[in-house]
Amino acid sequence: MWKDSYKKSRKDRIKLLKENGNISDENFNNLMDSKVLTNEIADKFIENQIGIYGIPLGIATNFLINNKEYVIPFAIEEPSVIAAACNAAKIIKANGGFSAKIDERLIIGQIAIYDILDFEKAKNDILKEKTQLLEIANNSQPNIVNLGGGARDIKIEKKGEFLIIYLYVDAKDAMGANTVNTMLETISPIIIEICRGVKLMSIISNYSTSCMVKAECSIEIEESVGKRIEKAIEFANVDTYRAVTNNKGIFNGIDAIALATGNDWRAIEAGLHAYASKDGRYKSLTTWKCIDGRLHGSIEIPLAIASFGGSVNLHPTSKISLEILGNPTAKELAEITACVGLAQNFAALKALVTVGIQKGHMKLQLKSFGVYLGLSNEKIKKLEKLFENETHITLDKVNEKIKDID
Ligand code: HMG
Repeated sequence: MWKDSYKKSRKDRIKLLKENGNISDENFNNLMDSKVLTNEIADKFIENQIGIYGIPLGIATNFLINNKEYVIPFAIEEPSVIAAACNAAKIIKANGGFSAKIDERLIIGQIAIYDILDFEKAKNDILKEKTQLLEIANNSQPNIVNLGGGARDIKIEKKGEFLIIYLYVDAKDAMGANTVNTMLETISPIIIEICRGVKLMSIISNYSTSCMVKAECSIEIEESVGKRIEKAIEFANVDTYRAVTNNKGIFNGIDAIALATGNDWRAIEAGLHAYASKDGRYKSLTTWKCIDGRLHGSIEIPLAIASFGGSVNLHPTSKISLEILGNPTAKELAEITACVGLAQNFAALKALVTVGIQKGHMKLQLKSFGVYLGLSNEKIKKLEKLFENETHITLDKVNEKIKDID
């Protein structure tokens, strides 16, 4: 169904989404009529609003994740990212697709306390009241408890001069910032009363290490290419200049899906960059190993991406994006997002260690010029041959070469 969908018009692609059951009649009309964020709604998001900054919304196809087909919405301004995702996903699908798993999804909040006289005593005294503290936290947020979520655990650590209380909250499908922050502010005075310290602050942490998601794939590949992709990761792991660019490529996908679904991509990025540095050096978020002609890829990341609440439900386009994805739970969305990051990395590395990144970019640019000039697919193919060895393509050059093809 999605074969060659990228060669169709925008409206025909929207029709395909409808035919495939990805969108309702209402969202079909919204996409067709370009009904997106209005100034009235935008004014509710931020302060001093003056306009709307548009970002293109596209779809990546070919994703087979845990044996289920997905069409993935990308909000992104950069050319070639979606093509790369489709390209990688197509190869991975032909090799059985992705498998992805997230076991727990707990949002972490923290309270920092200083001027503690006896850390061990303070810690023990607070932990003695753990059950009661969790109950008080839950009483402050009955809605999340009614939905089956709530505060689950408290842990305490001493770091420097601080006694840090970590509260673990099941926020169901939400990012959970308001829930967690309210819980923290409710239990802080009681904790201070117990330990007799001074509260510095309480706030959610975006280092979501209790939302670990893992995605994997295995691809039959020419041994030499597989080994070079493996080497590309070794290179990233010894050189921060390369690791940053490698991970930027992964974020091409992760940020695009986070933005399309109304998520706070700054929080996601900050957490993932910290995770990439967990061993004391900034490294690749993915691993690729080539064994006996098969390339095994994996990504394991902390991902508290949400499928409910806040701007996820307020932004009209994020509602469409979630519908395209089949209205996933937050856990499922984390699994999808991790696979997108892994696919993006595979596409970029495969290009980098073989033909280089520019060849694919030029090919896409040539296609865009061809479509712009109303050329048939056959003529575009002929143009591709003529430009095979060119590294720089302009509309003028294309116009010049068209004269050489019938
Ligand atoms: P190709 O194999 O030369 O071209 O790939 P193709 O025309 O044979 O297309 C192959 C498949 O790509 C197609 O299969 C599509 O799935 C997909 P088909 O469906 O035809 O059987 N495809 C497209 N999908 C949607 N729209 C399109 C489209 N064209 C092809 N218009 C391609 C060409 C560009 C895909 C390939 O060279 C590639 O994957 N390159 C990587 C590009 C990339 O990573 N871009 C990201 C931006 S660069 C960057 O920011 C990150 C970086 O710095 C990260 C890093 O350093 O690690 C590179």
